[in-house]
Amino acid sequence: MRRKIVAGNWKMNTSVAEGVALAKAVAAGAIEVPSDVDIIIAPPFTHIVPVAEAVAGSRIAVSAQNCADEPKGAYTGEVAASMIAGAGCRYVILGHSERRQYYGETSEKLVKKMRLALAEGLKPIYCVGEKLEERNAGNHFAVVGAQLAEVLFELTPEEASKVVIAYEPVWAIGTGVTATSAQAQEIHAFIRGSLAGKFGSDFAEEISILYGGSCKPSNAAELFACPDIDGGLIGGASLKAEDFLAIAKSY
Ligand code: 13P
Repeated sequence: MRRKIVAGNWKMNTSVAEGVALAKAVAAGAIEVPSDVDIIIAPPFTHIVPVAEAVAGSRIAVSAQNCADEPKGAYTGEVAASMIAGAGCRYVILGHSERRQYYGETSEKLVKKMRLALAEGLKPIYCVGEKLEERNAGNHFAVVGAQLAEVLFELTPEEASKVVIAYEPVWAIGTGVTATSAQAQEIHAFIRGSLAGKFGSDFAEEISILYGGSCKPSNAAELFACPDIDGGLIGGASLKAEDFLAIAKSY
């Protein structure tokens, strides 16, 4: 059975002290979240060690928001997958649209990042999603299909089986506009169908596909009720423990 997952992407928010307090509040409140929901928080790099210590022994897993596309060496300002794993992360978000848009993240770089992360035992949360103009032009299936083909389908089935996919339409991120559950289900079904075409239907049934983009307590239950939506990647609403936990309890 594929896992239900609710993951919080804190992006570039919170001080270290605020992040530790938020992590502790999430860990304390997680007792009320159904036990079959995996809860993940993704703080900034500087917070990973104290946050991992704060949630040690709880059901909360820690993720990084990115990793380097080289294993080590003279790459000033970069953080290697091995460092992230050593600091206490079990997951790493890769290919977020903000990284693709603002930091020139290419498919070629993402394949390298995926392989390095997987080699360190990290589970990548691989983000895909189209921009508004691409959806308006009816190109969303082609865009998401290419994002899968150029990165995920470059991996072996064994590697790809460790990946969590997050569909995040760029026009829904931080805008307050959520994809309708019908729009989200349609493209999640397309993603699962593409996985089945590449790796087989048994494989596709086991992969968790999360929805992200203005997901909040008021719309999470409807989104999570869709057959191909296996949880959420939450931005803004993950910065308040109460809201994040309310989303996780929506299952
Ligand atoms: P928001 O929930 O703030 O729209 O962000 C979604 C997101 O980008 C999570 O990675």
